[in-house]
Parts: sequence; C-alpha cells; structure tokens
Amino acid sequence: MKTLIKDGMIVTSEHEFKGDILIEGTKIEAIGRDLRVEADEVINAEGMYILPGGVDQHAHFSFEFMGERTKGFETTNSAIIGGTTTVIEFVNQEQGKGLVETVEDYNKEWVEGISMVDYSFHPVITNPTEETFKDIKNLPEAGYPSVKLFMAYKGQFFHSDDEAVTNALLEAKDAGVTVMVHAENADLIELMQKKAIAEGNTNPYYHALTRPPIVETEATERAINLARFAEAPIYIVHVTTKGAVDAIKKAKEEGLPVFGETCTQYLLLDKEYLAKDNFEGANFVCSPALRDKDDQEYLWKSLKDGWLNAVSSDHCSFTTEQKKMGLDDFRKIPNGSPGLENRLPMLWTYGVETGKITRPELVEYYAASPARNNGIDHKKGYLAPGYDADIVIYNPHVKKKVKLEDSLNGVDFTIYEGFDQVGECDAVFLRGTQVVKDAKYIGEQGQGHFVKGKPFGTAFR
Ligand code: URP
Ligand code: ZN
Ligand code: ZN
Repeated sequence: MKTLIKDGMIVTSEHEFKGDILIEGTKIEAIGRDLRVEADEVINAEGMYILPGGVDQHAHFSFEFMGERTKGFETTNSAIIGGTTTVIEFVNQEQGKGLVETVEDYNKEWVEGISMVDYSFHPVITNPTEETFKDIKNLPEAGYPSVKLFMAYKGQFFHSDDEAVTNALLEAKDAGVTVMVHAENADLIELMQKKAIAEGNTNPYYHALTRPPIVETEATERAINLARFAEAPIYIVHVTTKGAVDAIKKAKEEGLPVFGETCTQYLLLDKEYLAKDNFEGANFVCSPALRDKDDQEYLWKSLKDGWLNAVSSDHCSFTTEQKKMGLDDFRKIPNGSPGLENRLPMLWTYGVETGKITRPELVEYYAASPARNNGIDHKKGYLAPGYDADIVIYNPHVKKKVKLEDSLNGVDFTIYEGFDQVGECDAVFLRGTQVVKDAKYIGEQGQGHFVKGKPFGTAFR
C-alpha cells in the first residue's frame, strides 16, 4: 500500500519546506518537492503542517504509585490523538525479580495486545541489591537502555538513596545505559510535610509549599555530583525550576554529560492551581510541584538555549476519586496528572504561536531529541526515508478550547480545561496505518509494537 501526502509544510527538527511524503507499507519511502509517483491513496495536505509522530520519554500507564494504579495502556489512544506515536513507560522493579524480568512480565500483563501506541520501557530500581545493579548490563540486549531512580518519595518502596544512585551510575556507564533520576531531597520534603501536618495544614496547596524549589535544586546538584564522582552521564527528569536548570547549565559548561527535560505542565501551569476550591487542587498535585510564572519563562528559555533537551508529559492518570485518598492529608494524594494528549497542541499554542519556540524546535523537543535520548532514533522521531511512517498532519486553522468531553485520558478531568488551543492533529499515521482521521481516533487496541532501544543515547554522545 502506497500513500502520498501532498503539498504539506514538512517540519523537521532542522527546517521546514513545502513538499510531499510517500509512505510505502510501514515506512517512509521518499520525501521531496513535487514527488511524481503512483500511490493507492493521495492526501491533500495543503495548508497543513506535517510533523514526525511524537516520542514521549516520560509516561506512566498502569503505574502503581502510592498504593494506587493509574489508567493503563487501554487509554493510549489519548497519546495518538495528541500526535504522540511512541511512549516510554516507567516500570517499577518488582520485589524478588530482576529489572529485565520485571519489564518482560509487565509487558505481557499490561501492555502487549493492549497498547495503541508504540512503546519502550525505563526500568525503575526499587531493590538496590548487588544482583539488581549487575542486571543493568543486561538492559541493552533486552532493548531498554535506561534505568531510573527516585531520589524523592521517602518511605515509598521505590525511593533510592545516594548509594543506590551511585551504584547505578557506576554500573551503567560502560553498558551505555542512561541513568535517569527524579531529583528532589526526600528528607527535606518529609521534614516540611511533618511540620505542615502538625500545624493542621492538610490541603493540596501544602503539597507545593512543602516541596519548594530548593529541594529540587539541592537534589539536582547532588545528583550531578554523584555522576561526577562516578564519571558517568546522568539525565534529570522533569526539571521545573531555575536553580535546577542552572545546575545543569553549569555542569554542561564544565563539559560534564548532564542532560534534562521539562514537562508541559511546568511550562503552562503554576502552583496557584493547587489552591482551587473543593479539593480540585488535588488534580494538580504532581512532583516536583507546579512552580511560579517566572520559572515557566525560565524553562521556555532553557529549551531555547539548549540547557534542557526535551518536553515530556509525565502522563499519570489518576481519577479524582483516587486523589481523594488525600482528602484529609495532602501527603496521601497520589502524585501525577494526565496530559499526554495535550503535549503537542499546548506546545504549539503556547510555544510556537507565541514565538517562544519555532516549529523545528518543537519537533526537536517533542520527537527527535527524546528519540535520540533513548536510542530509538534509528526508527522514530524523524521524517526521513527508511524511518517508521509515524506522521502527524497538523491543522493550524482550528481554534478551540481544551474540554474534558474531547479527552481520551480515561479520567474525569483535564489539567488544561478551558485553555485555548490552536490547531489539532487532523490525521496521524502509525507505521503507515492511519489511526486518526478528521481529528478522530480510528485505530485499534493492540496496534502498538515494542520498540527496541539501543544503548549509548544522547547522554553518551
Ligand atoms: O507526580 C508525578 N510526577 N507522578 C509520577 C511519578 C513521578 O514522580 O514521575
Ligand atoms: Zn518523578
Ligand atoms: Zn514521572
């Protein structure tokens, strides 16, 4: 089957030009101006932008967290409708199992045959034994060339101390495995949380007040120093604040292989959302916490200046009912909010339309760079011959508001409710098959395939 997408504005991470894309089977066969080829189907994309399908390197589907499980891969059509065709999921190591074994079992139970989006995995170390660290060298062969540790969340089974982070860094570097960390100072958070609760401050706003920017800045600086000690690269996930960016920037200026991402919500939302009435603030409880408007501006600039190299969603769909676990104590609110379906349209509306980033930069942060970070850039994240035909036709003429009724996130709220949205994904192709048509999802459950990542991603290059 050959499909020709004609006369669209093709956007790559380097430039944009008017042209055509020929899809043959599952791959991009050719790209160019005025391709003169026979095709079974011709799509007129005049006035539309053609982007590579997005890669979200930070997602939580079927993620068990604070005793609750998020909505699963049966809701990954929400990724597709928002132009993301590959997600990389965090998988907590199960007690008594190795990293590879955990991911294989998780894939069979929660992903295979269910996912509507292509997928890969980041194993999360929860059992810091010698055996676990030795297992890191087996990750590249299995196709999961990264490992994650949570420096935050004291008292949870997945919290890691500095010794664990350092052991992971030492073990990972020769294997080309990228160590990712959630950098927040768990002890400082606990200290402040205890104080807040003792003073009767139990509402969701205290989630933000008890994890101020300094807890992230301190842990980011410490993580970088552990990487310096181990002489290993490190990747800091969901960077939200000036101090943490500056730590990364300083390390880079010293020539250290230190990288970081931010997430859509930290670019668009601030901590005042946590003060919403009727416990609605709980829907915005994620960690690190939402910050201030100044931080948002700094994060946009940090992308532009290259201090951060990706924008992820940190998608984490808990219902308001699950969030109510923390009705009397903000510490018990499951952390995380949904947002994968909004990542591209919000970056377009609040980044491209406002002139904060260019369209090629958008493609870089939402597709190409996350593909390189995770060693899947031989197949994903680019519009080029030989690549998987993961393609978005973006209609920039649509103007609407984000509404729950249009959402496929599987829960009863969106954190961008009422936000203006410019443009939408009119069509999406996943490996050559059209899965969004006229801005509606038309794909099938189970169409997603595992993508084997290669070691030595960006952090090593
Ligand atoms: O609050 C968040 N971000 N929940 C998901 C887990 C994590 O820390 O990434
Ligand atoms: Zn995190
Ligand atoms: Zn996360």
